[in-house]
Amino acid sequence: MNRGLRRIAVLTGGGDAPGLNAVVRAVAKSAIHRGWEVLGIEDGFEGFFNEGGIRPLSSGHVRGILQMGGSILRCSNRGDPFRYPAEDGSGPADRSDEVVKQVDRLALDALVVIGGDGSLMIGGRLEEKGVPVVGIPKTIDNDVWGTDVTFGFDTASQTVTDAVDRLHSTAASHQRVMVVEVMGRDAGWIAVQGGGSGGGDVLLIPEIPFDMDAVCGKIRERNEGGIGFSIVVVAEGAHPSDGEKTVIVTAEESATGYERLGGVGDRVARIIEQRERVECRSTVLGHVQRGGSPTSRDRFLGTLFGVGAVDLIARGNTGRMVAMKGERLTDVPLTEVAGRARRVEPDGPEVHALEAIGVNFGR
Ligand code: F6P
Repeated sequence: MNRGLRRIAVLTGGGDAPGLNAVVRAVAKSAIHRGWEVLGIEDGFEGFFNEGGIRPLSSGHVRGILQMGGSILRCSNRGDPFRYPAEDGSGPADRSDEVVKQVDRLALDALVVIGGDGSLMIGGRLEEKGVPVVGIPKTIDNDVWGTDVTFGFDTASQTVTDAVDRLHSTAASHQRVMVVEVMGRDAGWIAVQGGGSGGGDVLLIPEIPFDMDAVCGKIRERNEGGIGFSIVVVAEGAHPSDGEKTVIVTAEESATGYERLGGVGDRVARIIEQRERVECRSTVLGHVQRGGSPTSRDRFLGTLFGVGAVDLIARGNTGRMVAMKGERLTDVPLTEVAGRARRVEPDGPEVHALEAIGVNFGR
């Protein structure tokens, strides 16, 4: 790895997140600045199997994309090379050797995988097969192990805060309870940061199974204190202490291999309405949280991550994921990240701070 010219490729795996283009831009610009060639793999790992799925990325291709949502390389959470769906429907096949061959054929010195837990796990397995991989943690859920923060999370949280601000005024004028369901899969970070910053009165997160007595008690307390409206923010993966999370499509039934969550907000709203005899409405923010222009924080974090990944490759330090620890950019082994998730601590500082100002977590 000591020759002058190098060639790297970059892909955006899994679901999209605001800031992807900032990362792709930083990877491409910093690599080109070093005199390297950069290729873009389209549609996540699928690009390795699709005709024309791999293309050169020049400075011109990444110009003017910093503020754009989505990914210029498009995203896909299908096409896991280790479990690639067979065309005849006969079940997934291991096509990872084809990826290794493509990497050799293209003479790639490294592959930059921008993704969440699923894509980073694939990256780690490819590294084990001899493909030099550097990972960059992406997800609005903020649940990647080994980093304090992922890019995309700040924008999604800001979208939730904006929505809660808007719901406040209509809740107050109608004296209603507004329930808002937010994303995050099995992590409550979006509900905690987005809902907490919007001044939500009740936050329900997967890490703290909720009790409807506590939720209704908080709403009653506000009503008795003369405040006839409340905002309840429910993470899609939240569940009652005596029940399961609300799954729309199971992992087995789903085309992506991941279960699809949704509907818990509506369930919570119906219970509050019946028990407290207050008017209640529910809103599902859904994929609104994934779209739009990234915040300055996500653009900057994405830039730090993208340049950090290229620096790692330059040092021959692959098999690692760039990470933030506090305000410091660092890196961790991909093997440490795989199969783990960073969740909200039920008694951690974020929940403590919000409970200390009267926010109810359904306990
Ligand atoms: O992991 C990011 C995320 O947006 C989750 O918060 C959500 O549960 C899921 O992806 C939705 O996935 P899809 O775009 O496949 O519906």
